[in-house]
Amino acid sequence: MGRPAPRPLMDALARALEKAVMSPDDRAMVVKAMAPYAFAHEAILDGTLLTAFRTGAAGVVASRHLAVKSPATIGFIGCGTQARFLLRAHRTLFPNLRAVMYDAAPDAAARFAVEEGGQPGRVDQAGSCDIVCTSTPARAPVLFRAFVGVSTHVNAMGADAPGKQEVDPELLKEATVVVDDLPQASESGEINVPIHAGLYSVERVYGTLGEVVAGRKPGRRSNEITLFDSTGLAIQDLALARAAVAEARRRGLGAEVELL
Ligand SMILES: NC(=O)c1ccc[n+]([C@@H]2O[C@H](COP(=O)([O-])OP(=O)(O)OC[C@H]3O[C@@H](n4cnc5c(N)ncnc54)[C@H](O)[C@@H]3O)[C@@H](O)[C@H]2O)c1
Repeated sequence: MGRPAPRPLMDALARALEKAVMSPDDRAMVVKAMAPYAFAHEAILDGTLLTAFRTGAAGVVASRHLAVKSPATIGFIGCGTQARFLLRAHRTLFPNLRAVMYDAAPDAAARFAVEEGGQPGRVDQAGSCDIVCTSTPARAPVLFRAFVGVSTHVNAMGADAPGKQEVDPELLKEATVVVDDLPQASESGEINVPIHAGLYSVERVYGTLGEVVAGRKPGRRSNEITLFDSTGLAIQDLALARAAVAEARRRGLGAEVELL
């Protein structure tokens, strides 16, 4: 974040980090940079956990605006870390969602179902739910047009790098596609492979989730298939990090460390 920190600051940061990591009850670690030129650094947090939280949050915000009003079912293709946070986030808004879990590794689906409450199922069963979340590292489609209904909402979360792809381009073409960021999605999101293969074009994208949330473009309009192409934005990490730091301070968690 910001310009690169000078060497002495990085050394001090490393020492402070070591101190904080060695402290046995530092579950939430917060290191506050006190150096006058360290304005760009306020805290160090567990980025992996934050990413999972913000990915879940982005998914449920998309579902809120793009899924049918009262979804009854949610399907997962890919039952790893992101799927767990996506399900938890969805249940905060839709507490009665019935979950169907599919994973290429049947054990992963079974574990997810037991841990979070749901039913393992076939890929087409997961794909036929009111909301479908794909969160795999796949490089070939795992969700096909034949699986989904006329008003399904898809949160396509897994494609976040060039070459990754989870959704059949035929389904993509039929869907109202909302991205988090158009240049980033074109380069590394669900639309990246079809665009490079000449099967899809950026002009087809309906808009960004920001535009929909801000009311500049309507969310779900009718019986339509909607698809949120999520690549994950730095601004989401920052927004969540700020909230986490404020909450950690409020609860007296983490460690305040003077760096210089
Ligand atoms: N959009 C975002 O903001 C965002 C954020 C974090 C991660 N991601 C991406 O989401 C994907 C999943 O991340 P994760 O942390 O949950 O990974 P993970 O390794 O915890 O889980 C991935 C799961 O997908 C399963 N899987 C792999 N290939 C599959 C296939 N073809 N069909 C069905 N299941 C399959 C694996 O068995 C595993 O259980 C990755 O591609 C990651 O880069 C995106």
